Amino acid sequence: MAAIDTNSLSAVENPAELYDGANVLVTGGLGFLGSNLGFALAAAGASVTLVDSLLPQYGGNPHNIEGIQGKVAVSYTDVRDSYAMAYLISRHDFIFNFAGQVSHRDSIDDPLTDLEINTSASLNLLELVRKNNPGASVVYAGTRQVYGRPEYLPVDEKHPLHPTDANGISNLAAEMYHGMYAELHGIRATSLRMTNTYGPRQRLAGTTQAFVPIFVRKAFRDETITIYGDGNQRRDFVYVTDAVDAFLRAGRCADAVGKIMNLGHPDPMGLKDFADLLCEVVGTGRVALAPWPPDYEKIDIGDYYGSFELASKTLAWRPTVGVKDGLTRTIEFYRPRIAEYM
Ligand SMILES: NC(=O)c1ccc[n+]([C@@H]2O[C@H](COP(=O)([O-])OP(=O)(O)OC[C@H]3O[C@@H](n4cnc5c(N)ncnc54)[C@H](O)[C@@H]3O)[C@@H](O)[C@H]2O)c1
Repeated sequence: MAAIDTNSLSAVENPAELYDGANVLVTGGLGFLGSNLGFALAAAGASVTLVDSLLPQYGGNPHNIEGIQGKVAVSYTDVRDSYAMAYLISRHDFIFNFAGQVSHRDSIDDPLTDLEINTSASLNLLELVRKNNPGASVVYAGTRQVYGRPEYLPVDEKHPLHPTDANGISNLAAEMYHGMYAELHGIRATSLRMTNTYGPRQRLAGTTQAFVPIFVRKAFRDETITIYGDGNQRRDFVYVTDAVDAFLRAGRCADAVGKIMNLGHPDPMGLKDFADLLCEVVGTGRVALAPWPPDYEKIDIGDYYGSFELASKTLAWRPTVGVKDGLTRTIEFYRPRIAEYM
């Protein structure tokens, strides 16, 4: 399938349709982003393989494909397994590289596992593409964490990079490998740097992952959501269908090859306001402010919101879902099946 340019992409309303009949591999496919992408692709008639190791402490959940079983193939493979990955990569034309160890805290406690999963496995994936399937398109899920504490806002792609923890470093290295494979080897690789992304199918259990799922769990349990600091630290929140839309565009876009682009949202919001709104939507839970614990303060980045002008120009992409709408949809999803997620 030939890639298309930005002009043609600007006329596309549902980019999933560009994958009708395509062979698509999604690593981390039983996780939050991977499964939501799987739903969009399956609905559009793509032939999808979701790869996931379902390591117990990570975000993969078999319930995430309820509704598309039979429409997608699942390979219970660890992305560190080079032989199994070689087979899978040679048979797919589009690869969304979403498998990852996502906890910042765990990356500090066990940086070598973080490096293996987030960096070495990605480098191996790119090597396998170069050797076995050099025409494949690869889109990497990068993170705003690579910027560290913002020096200016909104943060654009020219902002200095100084990640504050091992997870940010392993993600940055993986992203740079994608860029290098595009430049040196002509691989169709692109990276999208995501900001806080939220929505259905995200793991709510655990204490060391991103803050949004922890807030959602606490609200459902009618517990107090503790926010460190004054609660005014701003973030831009992207609803998962908007993120999926950007990834789908990137995978088909000739002008995206070799580019690294921020995703973001035009209406950043304070954390306390976000958590208050969440409790209002759930109908339970409350918010309290507390002083920073020293080990958390060291890796906190303060205010962050990104410029997504480059992604808008290149992918003809804009987020369409506001926080109130996104949270309402999120909670509607979890309410009847909350036990499956925490
Ligand atoms: N959700 C966000 O807000 C956000 C923000 C920035 C970046 N990202 C990046 O996007 C990617 C996907 O994130 P997510 O939110 O969907 O997380 P997630 O934890 O829900 O999904 C990651 C998936 O990878 C799988 N996985 C982990 N190690 C694996 C291995 N060794 N082999 C095979 N599968 C493995 C997990 O089982 C899980 O299903 C991650 O790389 C993450 O760093 C996410």
